[in-house]
Amino acid sequence: MNYIGTRSKLKKYGQLHVLDHYKELDGAGKKALLAQAAGIDFEKVLSLYRHATGGEQGDAAENNFSFEPLPYTDKASLPAEKLAEYEKAGADIMARGMFAAVTMAGGQGTRLGHNGPKGTFDIGLSCHRSLFEIQCRRLADASAKYGRTIPWYIMTSRENDADTRAFFEAHGFFGYPRTEIRFFVQNMLPMVGFDGKIILDNPGHIKEGADGHGGVFAALKSSGCYADMRKRGIKWVFVGGIDNVLLKLADPVLVGFGEKSGAPVAAKSLVKRDAKEGVGVFCRRNGRPYVVEYTEISDEMAEARGADGQFVYGDAHILCNLFSMDAIGDILENADGLPYHAARKKTPYVGADGEIHTPDKPNAFKFESFIFDAFGRFDDLAILRVDRESEFAPVKNREGNDSPETARKMYIAQFGE
Ligand code: UD1
Repeated sequence: MNYIGTRSKLKKYGQLHVLDHYKELDGAGKKALLAQAAGIDFEKVLSLYRHATGGEQGDAAENNFSFEPLPYTDKASLPAEKLAEYEKAGADIMARGMFAAVTMAGGQGTRLGHNGPKGTFDIGLSCHRSLFEIQCRRLADASAKYGRTIPWYIMTSRENDADTRAFFEAHGFFGYPRTEIRFFVQNMLPMVGFDGKIILDNPGHIKEGADGHGGVFAALKSSGCYADMRKRGIKWVFVGGIDNVLLKLADPVLVGFGEKSGAPVAAKSLVKRDAKEGVGVFCRRNGRPYVVEYTEISDEMAEARGADGQFVYGDAHILCNLFSMDAIGDILENADGLPYHAARKKTPYVGADGEIHTPDKPNAFKFESFIFDAFGRFDDLAILRVDRESEFAPVKNREGNDSPETARKMYIAQFGE
């Protein structure tokens, strides 16, 4: 789109400030800014803004939701024959090449002070294995065990796609067959200031952020990965995050559990450490499977305990989810897509003076959709409660809980250095 066309589009949406410094840009800068603006769906972005500021009827019934716990199956209490039955069913699916894994690695390691894709982070093992290599080894082991290489789809973001690919190249894809690894890029959305103006992070560039891991479905489709899975005859797709060093990406027990449950989606949970742990919890909301995110849960719900002294909503969501291909197809057919959550962030911005300012308090909305908002599309979600020590050691904070140090200790306890 040319300058005139872009200008009238921006004017229509009250965003003319995007061109405030256009004249000072060089030829390439001008072209890049016009191209960036052309790729943005301003209608959508401003509707998200109106929703976030309450100007649009969204979740008006927010206070009328009814919540109840979602039943789970406790892996530790399963009889040995049941466990063996699940394991055999899952192993069979893997041996027949009907299983694929997706890793959502669109995030940067900012919270860890790491400059680069989070998957390239080194937790400090003596072998300096990165988060990507740790996951790759899991898949390689399962591939060897079941005699079929598991296709691995890795979601990146525009911010880290090139660095991620270069990292895999530099490490020879950790010995995994290259043709079985596909990268796909998630979408981004502009950040909007509390005054409704889209943020510029420098005079010739609109600040955009990854649109949340709920974008995984749309991105699987637009990249051709979903079609690739269909072509391969995949039946079950594991979708996990990058930051848990004990994540079992190819667990036959979970796959068999999903298969035998008859539910379109299965997920692992574990018991919340304390009321304030930074994890979402499974429940039913208005009768549908749901995860209440830790940033959105009320104190009352987070702290509620039953007669047995256990948390009523104690099953943490650990981004360890298994979708049937039919479930993914169903999600993709929903024209409205997943809802967006607006997070309030502190982000540097270009002021009217053309200078970059760093705010000391939140100044903008970042819009993200969450993968677990897809659960509500289904009547049922099969939950397998597992044990924290063997399955969950996330790397989230620089120190303290869920830090490289705690993750390293738990990893070494299971695998050695
Ligand atoms: C997340 C979950 C929370 C769960 C906890 C367990 C969300 C919103 N919440 O919290 O319910 O209990 O993990 O550890 O996920 N990612 C992308 N693209 C994005 C955003 C995230 O690929 O646009 C990936 C990240 O690379 C990471 C994962 O999703 O692998 C989790 O994202 P993060 O923002 O770190 O979530 P948490 O707040 O830790």
